[in-house]
Parts: sequence; C-alpha cells; structure tokens
Amino acid sequence: MKVSNKTSVISREIQQQIERGSFIRKAFEEGVALKKQYGEDKVFDLSLGNPILEPPQEFYQQLQKLANHPISGMHRYMVNAGYPETRAEIAQYLTSETGLPFTAKDIIMSIGAGGGISITLRALLSQGDEAIAFAPYFPEFLLYIANQSGIAKVVPSGVNFNPDLKALERAITHRTKVIINSPHNPTGVVYKEDVLRQMGQIIQAKESRLGTRIFILSDEPYRKLVYDGVKCPYVFYYHPRTIAVTPHSKDLSLAGERIVM
Ligand SMILES: Cc1ncc(COP(=O)(O)O)c(C=O)c1O
Repeated sequence: MKVSNKTSVISREIQQQIERGSFIRKAFEEGVALKKQYGEDKVFDLSLGNPILEPPQEFYQQLQKLANHPISGMHRYMVNAGYPETRAEIAQYLTSETGLPFTAKDIIMSIGAGGGISITLRALLSQGDEAIAFAPYFPEFLLYIANQSGIAKVVPSGVNFNPDLKALERAITHRTKVIINSPHNPTGVVYKEDVLRQMGQIIQAKESRLGTRIFILSDEPYRKLVYDGVKCPYVFYYHPRTIAVTPHSKDLSLAGERIVM
C-alpha cells in the first residue's frame, strides 16, 4: 500500500505541536549541542529553569537509607493519588504553614509541575472551556491547555507585571478557569496579599453573577526561592477553589526527578 506523504500517521494536533515545538525546549536542546561543541563553561543556558546547584545532602542520605533498607512493597502499584502516608505528611506540613485544616484527601502526588498542571486542567476543562493566563506567561501553559482541548485566553499584566485585575474581570465568562504563577517565571514578581485578595473578590463576585465555580490553578515551583525577607502568600486564603501545584524541581534541584505535591 502506498501512503501519501501528505497523510500524517500521528494525530494532526501532535504533528502541529512538533512542528511549532516549545521554543524553550528547542533553545535548551540547542544549548546542549553548543555545550558539546564549545564546552560546558562557555555556554550560558538561560532557557529552562534548570538548577545548577546539586540536591541537598539529605536527599542522598534518604535515597541511601531506602536502598539499604527497602520498605516491603514500595515498588508496587499504589493508589492513584499517591501513598496515603506521604500525602498525610504533606497535609500536616501545609497545615503548619497555613493554619488551614488540610488532610491527606486534599493532596495528590503527581509528576513534576508539568504533570500536575496537566492533570488539573484535565479534571477542570471541558472541551472549549477557557483558561486564563497572564502575559508574559510560562509558554508551556499554552500546550498544557491545548492538550486538554481548552482555549487559552491571555490577559495582560498591569503595573510591575502584577495581573491586570480589570482586564481579568472583563475576560471571565461562564467557561473560565484561571492560571496564576507566583513567584512568576519569567518576570520574578511575587503577587502580594493585596493583589490576591482583590483577585479573589473579583472571581467570587463573578461566580455569584454567572452562577459558576471558578478555580484558580496556582503554579508555584518557585515558592521557596524568595530572598530578602519577601513572603509568598498562599492563595488558599483568598479563594477557596484553589489548586496549588508545588514541585520540587527547583527548590530541591530535582528537575530530572518527577515529584510534586
Ligand atoms: C512556571 C513554571 N511552571 C511549570 C514548570 C514545569 O515544572 P516541572 O519541571 O516540575 O514540570 C516550570 C519549569 O521551568 C516553570 O518555570
């Protein structure tokens, strides 16, 4: 049988995504090739937020402990949401941080922020639902949204790269979900309590008017990477329908491991 080379053997959407590609991934791959050619110390790769520090000693100690004293059954299937005892530990940590009553049921383990955002959008978006992202946004958001048949709605940032809340209010429809990212990649802005409070008020007023429930997906890989006493407020206080995605790719230098809470 002759297959026309105009016929794609993989899905058209994936073919288009491969052709367009993620430009930060392409830049990263170019960096890897340039480092091979010119040497590691000659190329400064600012594409991915790839940690240059090594993971903390405790990480290796725990790995060694597990390798030397494996827990029976630890490599078997587990419940989809992750080990209940791990989730309970994380819930306890979050409660001690926030004073809010988290339990293991509030925690789902996933595979990096990419995996966490994807499954959250999968759960939230019906075909054609809109996910708002504030420009400039982490470019992969568009792929995560498109992969779940959602429509990305880009809302501009306002002063100092804080979200333009008036534009947010105008953009919300009965199909809206909202993605935020603070501390922000690429601008580095940390959304202050006041911004989050106003955002929560706008979203809740819209919920009442439209008769909908609007989720905030808060992407927080850089929560712990703040300096000079800057605090990164928790979004949970300002909007009850918040799902936070908190990987350890950056704060523990484990970008190549796929762990998230
Ligand atoms: C804002 C933001 N969200 C998500 C990710 C993806 O994180 P992960 O490597 O944990 O999937 C990154 C990675 O650079 C990021 O900067």
